[in-house]
Amino acid sequence: MKLSDLQALFRSRYDCAAVFAARAPGRVNLIGEHTDYNEGFVLPMAIDRDVKIIGAARQDGIVRLYSADFEQESMFSLDAIRPDPAAPWSNYMRGVAAMLQNDGLALRGFDGVVSGDVPIASGLSSSAATEMATVMAFCAASGQSIDGVRAARLAQRAENEFVGVKCGIMDQFISSLGKAGHALLIDCRSLEYELASLPAGVTVLVVDTTAPRTLAGSAYNQRRRECEEGARLLGVRSLRDVSVQAFERRRDELPVVIARRCAHVIHENQRVLDAVAALRRNELSTFGALMNQSHDSLRDLYEVSSAELDAVVDIARDTPGVHGARMTGAGFGGCAIALVNDDAAASLADRIAAEYPRRTGRTPNIYACVASDGANWSAV
Ligand code: GLA
Repeated sequence: MKLSDLQALFRSRYDCAAVFAARAPGRVNLIGEHTDYNEGFVLPMAIDRDVKIIGAARQDGIVRLYSADFEQESMFSLDAIRPDPAAPWSNYMRGVAAMLQNDGLALRGFDGVVSGDVPIASGLSSSAATEMATVMAFCAASGQSIDGVRAARLAQRAENEFVGVKCGIMDQFISSLGKAGHALLIDCRSLEYELASLPAGVTVLVVDTTAPRTLAGSAYNQRRRECEEGARLLGVRSLRDVSVQAFERRRDELPVVIARRCAHVIHENQRVLDAVAALRRNELSTFGALMNQSHDSLRDLYEVSSAELDAVVDIARDTPGVHGARMTGAGFGGCAIALVNDDAAASLADRIAAEYPRRTGRTPNIYACVASDGANWSAV
């Protein structure tokens, strides 16, 4: 929804003008999947799709939210923040309010209208975008500012503890700190990060498989437990502490499934570092080959891909001008990405639009994405 339409909606609901607009983007992860909760490395970029909240501060501690997408209002008091089972979208925002207050920020209430164009439940982190936009809205309403890393940690805590999803830090971090034209190499242990500039002449094409995400929650948590078990058996704090060489020497000591999960994570961490080095040398073919290896490992060792994701990846890899393709995000459905030369992006999109439905019986949604800035707010 355009800002002017949101403003009109705000006026019609709240009888005054919104004075701030907060926004935060969704993301794709270029490489480094299921490594964040193992204290490893990831390389996501923020995309040019976001969640917006326009609002005006109130004099009391009431937060009134209207979701334009769900056409629903949800209201709460900052004095007693509880989940609203009738408006689950609001729980990401309630959780953020609770965590900001627990961490010592003095918050004011506000009236807000929320709307986004990050597709929901398709693996592009609409929840992290909602959380980070909420952090920004509270900053705007309360005259506060907050460091981007702290903001990401509190938003993650909101999702872990208030919403009850045990995600890692990647999605909130990139939604908070993304930079236009860049991906971010994030060390999920130290939370240090470096910008990695994306080369001119290539497009990141995102393909939403539109297949329902099955098992996403339960299998995600199970993978986390398997990684913890692997770390325990290898005698380390987390899989981040194991090098590829050390792992390969001890792989046979582990139960087969645990060994597969560990192999994915440990090699994937190294692939992220190799991919960043390749990007810095402008070696797109190496970068693409690492993306391909990442997908194959997620499919065969981590077992989180799906027939639909594999179909997109197959079609993309078979198309001229594509450097590499892989699933992105948690998996079990959701989106795949391809790194493709600009002049081949349209023909790749056409091929997927034609072939993917033949192979899967589904219609894909295809977006070319641009690396964008992280969360912010401005006066309107
Ligand atoms: C989801 C989680 C992230 C990360 C990815 C897998 O997007 O929210 O924290 O674990 O899955 O890389």
